[in-house]
Amino acid sequence: MRYFKDKKVFITGGSSGIGKSTAALLARNGANVIIGARNEAKLETALGQIEAVADSAEQITDKVVIDIADKASVSAARDAVLERLGGLDVLINNAGIAQPGYVQELSDDVFEQQMRVNYFGTVNVTRAFLPTFVEQHSGHICNVSSLLGFMGVFGYTAYAASKFAVVGFSDCLRQELLPHGVGVSVVYPADVDTPQLAEENQYKPAETKAVSGNVKVMHPDAVAEAMLKGIASGRYNIVPGFGSKFTHFMYRHFPWMVRATIDGDVKKATRARNGNGA
Ligand SMILES: NC(=O)c1ccc[n+]([C@@H]2O[C@H](COP(=O)([O-])OP(=O)(O)OC[C@H]3O[C@@H](n4cnc5c(N)ncnc54)[C@H](OP(=O)(O)O)[C@@H]3O)[C@@H](O)[C@H]2O)c1
Repeated sequence: MRYFKDKKVFITGGSSGIGKSTAALLARNGANVIIGARNEAKLETALGQIEAVADSAEQITDKVVIDIADKASVSAARDAVLERLGGLDVLINNAGIAQPGYVQELSDDVFEQQMRVNYFGTVNVTRAFLPTFVEQHSGHICNVSSLLGFMGVFGYTAYAASKFAVVGFSDCLRQELLPHGVGVSVVYPADVDTPQLAEENQYKPAETKAVSGNVKVMHPDAVAEAMLKGIASGRYNIVPGFGSKFTHFMYRHFPWMVRATIDGDVKKATRARNGNGA
């Protein structure tokens, strides 16, 4: 973790959940950290918690208001971050939203909004900082996808598509940035105990609940640690937690087996929902 000492880091979605845990761990390890999100009051509260665990009083810890889906807001935040830090070593594209539901019941806006924030938000922020990284001939970009950016699960048509898109973008980006000395990582968390998960739980269809009931929920601090260790060691694919690693491995090598298990859970939950036995 000493890799991060004196590093200049900007993390989107740093006011809550995984982003806040990651920003706090960065601050604890001596990094200069700026967190970005839309709600200024939430940013202010999170910043206080991050400052409280910082390694030294000399470190920069700050916040910037940003809506990653809005290019003008991204440009303004980029300028503020670069002015405050005087460059950037690590960009963590973590901000995201999730709303599950039956495909025929989700509105067009829910589909479009998840793509706008999760996919285009990642693209917007990455492209805004690219000239800096290329000019420096150094840096690292870490994009937070999801295990649902690697495999689909009932109820996540809109969200998974946006997270698969993040993976496709990152795969090409990694190759394009090789000659520029800039690294890329993608993180694939499964269920993590954050406000986003609590929000999602309100909308999950019965079948989704049946499938995700088998997943061990991780603490955001554990995801933050896995993410930062992965970045420090230059790993491209970062899969936090043993359960997620196992699922990732199984779905890569034995997808039919994972699908058969999930399909069984889905069928059982549908039967129970229709009132003809669990
Ligand atoms: N929790 C899970 O189970 C889980 C699993 C896999 C992947 N992930 C991914 O991990 C990342 C973090 O999720 P989390 O669970 O920590 O969520 P969270 O606690 O809800 O935090 C989301 C953060 O993103 C910010 N945000 C949302 N929309 C934004 C926008 N348009 N522009 C700028 N900031 C925005 C939020 O602040 P404002 O609302 O104030 O903007 C907040 O700081 C997301 O990309 C999520 O998809 C989460």
